[in-house]
Amino acid sequence: MSKQFDVLVIGGGPGGYIAAIRAAQLGFSVACCESNAYADTKGEPRLGGTCLNVGCIPSKALLHTSHLFAEASHGFAAQGISVGTPTIDVATMMSRKNAVVSQLTGGVKGLFKKNKVALLPGHGAFVGSSANGWQVKVGETDVEAAQVIIATGAKARHLAGVAVDNKIVCDNVGALELNAVPKKLAIIGAGVIGLEMGSVWRRLGAEVTLLEALPDFLPVADVDVAREAARIFAKQGLSIELGVTIGEVSTAKKGVTIAYTTKDGEARKLDAERLIVSVGRVPNTDGLNAEAVGLKLDERGRVAVDGQCRTNLPGVWAVGDVVSGPMLAHKAMEEAVMVAELMAGQSGHCNFETIPWVIYTSPEIAWVGQTEQQLKADGVAYKVGKIPFAANGRALGMGEPSGFVKMLADAASDRILGVHIIGANASELISEAVVAMEFSATSEDLARIVHAHPTLSEVVHEAALACDKRALHF
Ligand code: FAD
Ligand code: NAI
Repeated sequence: MSKQFDVLVIGGGPGGYIAAIRAAQLGFSVACCESNAYADTKGEPRLGGTCLNVGCIPSKALLHTSHLFAEASHGFAAQGISVGTPTIDVATMMSRKNAVVSQLTGGVKGLFKKNKVALLPGHGAFVGSSANGWQVKVGETDVEAAQVIIATGAKARHLAGVAVDNKIVCDNVGALELNAVPKKLAIIGAGVIGLEMGSVWRRLGAEVTLLEALPDFLPVADVDVAREAARIFAKQGLSIELGVTIGEVSTAKKGVTIAYTTKDGEARKLDAERLIVSVGRVPNTDGLNAEAVGLKLDERGRVAVDGQCRTNLPGVWAVGDVVSGPMLAHKAMEEAVMVAELMAGQSGHCNFETIPWVIYTSPEIAWVGQTEQQLKADGVAYKVGKIPFAANGRALGMGEPSGFVKMLADAASDRILGVHIIGANASELISEAVVAMEFSATSEDLARIVHAHPTLSEVVHEAALACDKRALHF
């Protein structure tokens, strides 16, 4: 006898658990299977996927601790606070991080109970279809469901010939578990993980070198933001080498040597105690048995979907990191809600134009919409409003004067096309821009809205005023 549900969700990360909860709220009988090895106290796999277990949440917990350490080391003195030379107990930092992860992953289990979502521990793989719907094997259990949502996420891409043991050579999993501050840390890939994890260990005292293949730094960000970020990170002591080609990586008991060629063709070797490989992520489609049911994958191995996350199979949907688009938890969750609502006959939607990006370095970097280089390439006429945090009283009071807000608005209609922030609390400030763009606001709309004084949000306000060349404080 197989277990029968209206909806089976494969994978319990942000895409999967949100799809399961929303589908249950809409009246479906729902099961969610999850097969990771991060067992909780009951021996069941933890929910929350990459994000809660080995991604967003643990990395932000470590970023917070290391930020406080850096403040105590270099920031307090300027405000007349002396605490001596701070020390870091890495074990305590890690156990606090682990406690945050346990609390949140356990919380998702509680949400499953509250919403009557059945958790099926085990790996889900397609078997075939019957009159009752899709047949999926979850561990040893046969499950049938009229609708299936694939939310199997992604895993770290590894480099050929570079074995990851998550002790000396780490991907994101080991990078969040180092048991001591390495004297020298090498990172291959100066993308989002490289910059965030590099910041954590640099602040705690490691000598950090990032080796990046591309000739330009952070090309996904607006050019001005990338330039300012490169300047600030260099000042913080993050050494970033661009345009390198990685050669042989040899690992010994106590460290690793990375041979690489510089952009000028010079052969070099870098010795480090630890290496983090953060060169992007690959979709988890290998264990799905997609061939058994003819599920179509795209050229990069992701599940192929249309703009509403429908696969080529009727009643089979896919969301999150396993499909195209940015690999971000909030994007996965938004797609999940859309799919559940579409399944229920509602008009679910996800606006891919207003998905914000945040990099949680210090200062933070956040943006939404188009960059200046994209507008130029598309031949769009635009105007720019750019205001530094140094012109803002709250930022100065906080001792956080670096960075700026840059707003791009259509030259003819004044509609906001992109907002790019590097500065304190950029992760929170970007929400105003997202809301504004979601409502098709113009820069004048934002300029005419009251912003509390003194707040960092006034920099966004001034950037909107500056689009019309009438900034009041700069
Ligand atoms: P996942 O979270 O990967 O979840 C998929 C789940 O499916 C996993 O638990 C997996 O075990 C399970 N699974 C896979 N195959 C099967 C199967 N066949 N059967 C059963 N279960 C299966 N994003 C942000 O928005 N903000 C951040 O600050 C951020 N920080 C990050 C930091 C790091 C270090 C990393 C690695 C990622 C970060 N991300 C961040 C990205 C974010 O974690 C992902 O975008 C998000 O987790 C994607 O959600 P998902 O549900 O699609 O996939
Ligand atoms: P990434 O795509 O951000 O960066 C990877 C970097 O590695 C790129 O700059 C790439 O050019 C470089 N690279 C690739 N191959 C290389 C090679 N052989 N040698 C040297 N450099 C090489 O990917 P990353 O950092 O692994 O993160 C994966 C994803 O996880 C992110 O794209 C993002 O979607 C998500 N994430 C989001 C965070 C956030 O929202 N704050 C934080 C961390 C991860």
